[in-house]
Amino acid sequence: MDWVVSNNKYLVGKISILDFTNDGVGLKRKNGCIRNMEIYLDTANMEEIREIVSWGVITGLTTNQKIFLKEKGTDFKKRVFEILNLVDGPVSIELTKTKLSNDELLNEAREYSSWHERNVVIKIPMFHDGRGLELVNKLCKENISTNATCLISTNQVILAALSGATYVSIFFNRVKDSGGDPITVIKESRMLIDEGNLKTKIIVGSLRRPSDVIEALTSGAHIVTVPYSIMVKLPWHWKTEETIKEFDQAWLEYTKS
Ligand code: E4P
Repeated sequence: MDWVVSNNKYLVGKISILDFTNDGVGLKRKNGCIRNMEIYLDTANMEEIREIVSWGVITGLTTNQKIFLKEKGTDFKKRVFEILNLVDGPVSIELTKTKLSNDELLNEAREYSSWHERNVVIKIPMFHDGRGLELVNKLCKENISTNATCLISTNQVILAALSGATYVSIFFNRVKDSGGDPITVIKESRMLIDEGNLKTKIIVGSLRRPSDVIEALTSGAHIVTVPYSIMVKLPWHWKTEETIKEFDQAWLEYTKS
């Protein structure tokens, strides 16, 4: 396998750097296909969403049941509507009662999907018995966007992509917790998705430190979904802080002269 490195980006697959141009938005293949890079926010907290949306960098949002637990006491449907009003992009909502039959889960998915004309994405866990794949495939045939979630291995990613998942969510630090290497899983997944000409986009979540964000993106993630606690650390660097102070001091001295 040839890994091509450019500007600290690892581009997976048997490609040459000459096949790409950088248009300032994303890496653009000379045949016109744009390799997007996006950041989503991983939260359901309105204050956090409002603050980060104002930065103009996020293009979508992801949630799950644990994220909603932090918002205990709020009305689920009302909160999802508030989020959909604020975030102009795909918003992933996870199926909540996974013990239900697939027919019941399909109805739950259809209900959430009806809450917005295009931006609701249904998060479906990778059940061990293939039930999640069946759901992804059925929803794909109904043109409902899906996000196959809780993925730890490349096998799971590829099955979800082939079944028609719009997005696949690789859980970076949970891969590590399981003894695996998330970078390998992301690189293998991206290479197979590209070589298979699949439209599925890789979202990498479960990010616990700022360096995880860059490791995920440079390994081939199309999208990273970042919790607020990590997002607010991204603009910070101690040397930048030091430099700003130095310039402020210089301006003070200049204006006193
Ligand atoms: C991503 O879609 C998930 O919501 C999230 O990133 C999971 O992260 P965790 O491992 O912190 O629960």
